[in-house]
Amino acid sequence: MTRWLITGAGGMLGRDLVSALGQAGHDVTGLAHRDLDVTDQAAVHAAVHDHRPGIVVNCAAWTRVDDAETREAEALAVNGHGAAHVAAACAGTGARLVQISSDYVFGGDTRRPYTEADDPRPRTAYGRAKLAGEQAVRRQLPGAGYVVRTAWLYGAHGPNFVRTIIRLERERPTIDVVDDQLGQPTWTVDLAHGIIALERSQAAPGIYHASSAGSVTWFGLAREIFTLLGADPARVRPITTAEYPSPAPRPACSVLAHDAWHAAHIAPLPGWQAALRHAFPGLLAAQAGQDAAPVGHPG
Ligand SMILES: NC(=O)c1ccc[n+]([C@@H]2O[C@H](COP(=O)([O-])OP(=O)(O)OC[C@H]3O[C@@H](n4cnc5c(N)ncnc54)[C@H](OP(=O)(O)O)[C@@H]3O)[C@@H](O)[C@H]2O)c1
Repeated sequence: MTRWLITGAGGMLGRDLVSALGQAGHDVTGLAHRDLDVTDQAAVHAAVHDHRPGIVVNCAAWTRVDDAETREAEALAVNGHGAAHVAAACAGTGARLVQISSDYVFGGDTRRPYTEADDPRPRTAYGRAKLAGEQAVRRQLPGAGYVVRTAWLYGAHGPNFVRTIIRLERERPTIDVVDDQLGQPTWTVDLAHGIIALERSQAAPGIYHASSAGSVTWFGLAREIFTLLGADPARVRPITTAEYPSPAPRPACSVLAHDAWHAAHIAPLPGWQAALRHAFPGLLAAQAGQDAAPVGHPG
């Protein structure tokens, strides 16, 4: 049986991936940030050589997109150099590596879905750092490196848009949400099962896009969340990106096409609406737990 090693296992995706693998009966070790810092090359080498995994999934990342604009070297240290350290360790042991990457490697300025063959053109420090990670993995592991790009993740184990809207619905009479950015809200549990299916498929190494089917704007997603809460969706009002500026420019189009995934005959991830409905009870419970936590609780 394939032995799995998950880095960044304390994060939103990492936690759901470790759970999904465990539930499916796989031999899995999850190393959270406190167990393994991927910027520490010697520690990464030791972890991979000690655990001898058949496959590593690197979920460790600097994910604070706006902060990366002023702290690009730190973002690059994790997302670029950290990924390179994991790739080097895998090259040394013969392990395969799945590097989780992002729609932010693209410019986000088209109105059609990005394919795996499209040229990346990141417009943010975070996107540049993620692209550096992709390139390191592909360079060092041409025969064993998988880049899985995803987008708009949400799950029970981390702050994310869906959980924020659940909270804001209770706190505010109306909320303004941008309606000119299009993407694919993707449940971390669905992505976790997709990664397991990718490994099982014996697909060739390379770049794969893994995100929900369909697409929606943040405004449309917020209205759907209000509907699931039994609240009046008209309380969500559309605004433009220009009315909600952020340090890192947000892509107008984050939609990823799934050509490589389909070509490898891997079942597509569910549509975003069905996924959200499925995920919703768990997200509500997680948010209720967070709201009930005393001040200073790590969440
Ligand atoms: N969230 C999204 O919408 C989204 C969209 C597209 C792609 N992605 C990608 O999906 C992957 C998973 O993201 P996520 O949403 O699960 O993010 P997350 O919840 O922030 O998880 C990332 C984890 O990496 C850990 N980490 C940070 N620096 C580290 C280091 N030097 N060594 C080891 N671990 C470190 C973090 O620990 P600390 O919290 O202790 O720092 C955190 O537990 C990432 O590659 C991300 O770039 C995410």
